[in-house]
Amino acid sequence: MKIHHVGYLVRKMDKALDKFRELGYTLEKEPLPDGYRDADIAFLLKDGYRIELVCPHKTSDVYPLLKKFGNAPYHICYETENLESEEARLKDMGYTVFIPRQPAPAIGDGAEVIFLIHSQMGMVELAGK
Ligand code: NI
Repeated sequence: MKIHHVGYLVRKMDKALDKFRELGYTLEKEPLPDGYRDADIAFLLKDGYRIELVCPHKTSDVYPLLKKFGNAPYHICYETENLESEEARLKDMGYTVFIPRQPAPAIGDGAEVIFLIHSQMGMVELAGK
């Protein structure tokens, strides 16, 4: 599994984008409303790293995390060739599904994602087909 991005919670997309740009990040993908995640999502690049800004709506499953942690990184997303087998492998390692398989329009190319959690790891996202 290769790292695809680090997911970073933000309260206000526009203000966060300005602050990331000040530190030299460039916009890879404009903020897009993602109805599956119930959040606005943008992708930034810097030094070969990709950061996903996630601005959850109040009705989102992720919104309580924002209230708890504020603006902060909260998941690492791994790219996989085979979502189904990686999901099974992580479940065997003790992960449980937090958000089942869904399309990921912000990533595009027909990618789908699954979020899993583990008490010793926190949240992990798998992206692939
Ligand atoms: Ni993500």
